[in-house]
Amino acid sequence: MTVENLMDKLVSHCKANGFMFQSSEIYGGLNGFWDYGPLGVELKRNIKDAWWKDMYQSHNELACPPSAPSTYDMVGLDCTIIMHPQVWKCSGHYDLFHDFMVDCRKTKKRYRFDQLRGRWVSQGPQRIFVTTMAEPEQEQEDIARRALKFFNLRSKDIERLTFEERVLTLDKLDEADRAKVLGPDTDEIGSLTDPREFNLMFKTYVGALSGEEGAAFLRPETAQGIFVNFKNVVDSTRIRVPFGVAQVGKSFRNEITPRNFTFRSREFEQMEIEFFCHPSQSANWYQYWRNRRLQWYKDLGLDSDRLRLREHEQDELSHYSCGTADIEYAFPFLPPGEYGELEGIAHRGDFDLRSHSEGKLDPKKRPLEVELDEQGSPKHRGSGKDLTYRDDLTNERFIPHVIEPSAGADRATLAFLCQAYTEIQSSESNGKFESRVVMRLHPRIAPYKAAVLPLVKKDGMPEIAAEIYGALKKKFNVFYDEKSAIGKRYWRQDKIGTPYCITVDSQTLVDRTVTIRERDSMEQWRIGIDQVVAEIEKRVC
Ligand code: GAP
Repeated sequence: MTVENLMDKLVSHCKANGFMFQSSEIYGGLNGFWDYGPLGVELKRNIKDAWWKDMYQSHNELACPPSAPSTYDMVGLDCTIIMHPQVWKCSGHYDLFHDFMVDCRKTKKRYRFDQLRGRWVSQGPQRIFVTTMAEPEQEQEDIARRALKFFNLRSKDIERLTFEERVLTLDKLDEADRAKVLGPDTDEIGSLTDPREFNLMFKTYVGALSGEEGAAFLRPETAQGIFVNFKNVVDSTRIRVPFGVAQVGKSFRNEITPRNFTFRSREFEQMEIEFFCHPSQSANWYQYWRNRRLQWYKDLGLDSDRLRLREHEQDELSHYSCGTADIEYAFPFLPPGEYGELEGIAHRGDFDLRSHSEGKLDPKKRPLEVELDEQGSPKHRGSGKDLTYRDDLTNERFIPHVIEPSAGADRATLAFLCQAYTEIQSSESNGKFESRVVMRLHPRIAPYKAAVLPLVKKDGMPEIAAEIYGALKKKFNVFYDEKSAIGKRYWRQDKIGTPYCITVDSQTLVDRTVTIRERDSMEQWRIGIDQVVAEIEKRVC
């Protein structure tokens, strides 16, 4: 199966079975926005719940993973999406959170400068750079087709063209060469503008004020809500460093080229931890969180061979970061050997707390480096609040360093869906072979934990099945199905990822036992009805 085929199949499987729909589909959809259907909402909720339970709930000073450099505590927060505009000035997003983009003067379309790919093509002395928006598999074909059209040649004349080997992104060309670029949706060279900065934050207006006075932004990350509440958290909980604050919530980025299903969306959810520690310990905590987060994806079923941890090069680092490692996954829409970011673990140093406090701090009392503008005023007016921390045991006062494991709930959901999608050959009763889909989702995140199936719709089987269903339903999301042949019903559950099917059959009427069938191994075994809840609980929690 080609990469493209697999993604097309996954997208249509997700739609047909209620995992994911395009937002506002009946009006033609809105690029970069996705809705989660009845199954998708369960899947994503289970992923977020697993994260919340594993990263936040199961920790306190007494119960920490043995690999942690020391014990630590965790608390949660739920902050607003719209915050004081000054937050984004001090965080750096107002000035620095942008992509470079180019516009096509002909088509009015906009492209990311660092993502638009193409190749040099020559005919005789004329050399042009042909760009394409085709998926990697079709790239060469599209470039050849467009070059032929540009040089007014037919397919049989392809030998008259010379294609340079390397595929380059637009940002790798020098300025003079940019005049020779053929944009991806036009037939004229030189129609692309010079690159311009494009801030990715969505702007809105608060209250009745429509001018700049009321301007505000939808948050592009949940992290800043945690930083600006640092003092509130410390004062209200009396928590001690090292500790982490966890938050799950929506973030918004006006991405120039949203693509690859939900991978790059304009509205998405993040699961972020800001972990505050003593500067002398930050390198150890950075290592700890990188390993712990990578292991989490493996434990929930992502294949180790498709995961990797990649340290950022110096020139890739965000404005706040003094070290970042990405957890990357070999998403099937990428060419073989390429990986896409699933989560970033950043060592943010004291950038955020310092920046949110420093504006009005008296540099004599606290020798902080205040960046000044030409008039000598602090460049980014901070809150003026003292965001230092005092260790009550040692009496030391310091600005904690921050390690930030920042995951995307939608990207994680997409990775788990890609990993789970499996086609297997099944033998039909008439001897014909056909393939069917099994979604091999980890039981903890599967939308339904079990399905209860009476073998036939008579002899009291539906009544017993309803009794089991009722007992399970109090604890888990379970499915009841009494329609069609049992084999078909198993397949229906396989297709949506239900890990266990519980069948009530004629033997149930004799000894009150049922069959449990496991989705991936298709293994079956019998247990008593009164053990069903405990058995499922043991296997899915
Ligand atoms: N607070 C740090 C931060 O936001 P980031 O690397 O920009 O760092 C963290 O984002 C994670 O959020 C990414 O690893 C990804 O999983 C998710 N994410 C970021 N932009 C996204 C988008 N446009 N669509 C879906 N998920 C996105």
